[in-house]
Amino acid sequence: MASLPAQSVISLQILVLFVASVCVHDCIGGVIESRKLREFDYFALALQWPGTYCQRTRHCCSSNACCRGSNAPTEFTIHGLWPDYNDGSWPSCCTRSNFDIEKISTLLDDIQKYWPSLSCGSPSTCHGGKGLFWAHEVNTKKHGTCSFPVVRDEYEYFFATLNLYFKYNVTKVLSEAGYVPSNTEKYPLGGVISAIQNAFHATPSLSCSHGAVEELQICFYKDFKPRDCLIGSTTRTDVLSSASCPKYVSLPEYVSPGLKNGDAAFPWLPQHEAL
Ligand SMILES: *[C@@H]1O[C@H](CO)[C@@H](O)[C@H](O)[C@H]1NC(C)=O
Repeated sequence: MASLPAQSVISLQILVLFVASVCVHDCIGGVIESRKLREFDYFALALQWPGTYCQRTRHCCSSNACCRGSNAPTEFTIHGLWPDYNDGSWPSCCTRSNFDIEKISTLLDDIQKYWPSLSCGSPSTCHGGKGLFWAHEVNTKKHGTCSFPVVRDEYEYFFATLNLYFKYNVTKVLSEAGYVPSNTEKYPLGGVISAIQNAFHATPSLSCSHGAVEELQICFYKDFKPRDCLIGSTTRTDVLSSASCPKYVSLPEYVSPGLKNGDAAFPWLPQHEAL
């Protein structure tokens, strides 16, 4: 008799924790503040192409993986795992939980390697502060905390994201289809999309900057099986969901920010700005 009521009390407390404490500050943009906390519909695993992002690096700092020289990432890296609604909006700042790097200490090597920040800025967190890139991914904009009840805590969020990333290796799929990093080649957008469709049986969504692939999303049902990123009535969802990309896209090779201008010593930000 003793054990059941005790468990119920604990799960009620957990539920209250997640539901009652919603973020009311600093939730910006096309974001649904999760006061009413409707459960999300699907996950998007957002990946960044360093070859495109690192072209923008104007100064260096310790947090920016573009500045790692020969250790800089040369494959798609993780931006975040984002819970989304089918209507194109997404929940944000669902719970008032603070990012705690201690909780993911066993994952940190992989996180630093495969989930690096590609800039020097410190993104905003839910509670009006600034924080690490990962704190932002957990707390604000598209949110780990909104992945409840599928992903229950910070550790699970990072663990699930890394697992998806290892299992669905976009860089590998593209290179096997002949789409390898190049500063001269352009590849048909339709071909890039088909290569991923063939490999994962789901349609990705891409975004481009000046004709170069910048971000690529692959999407998942809540049981982590792949699904199309945009489910619409139109038959051309593949093209629509990649509207910022031209018909032929590039996949630029990584160029070290220091070498690009021929500057031997490119400017580094002081450490406190590098957070
Ligand atoms: C993806 O596959 C490539 C081989 O094409 C490999 O070098 C890379 O380590 C793989 N990435 C991950 C995260 O497993």
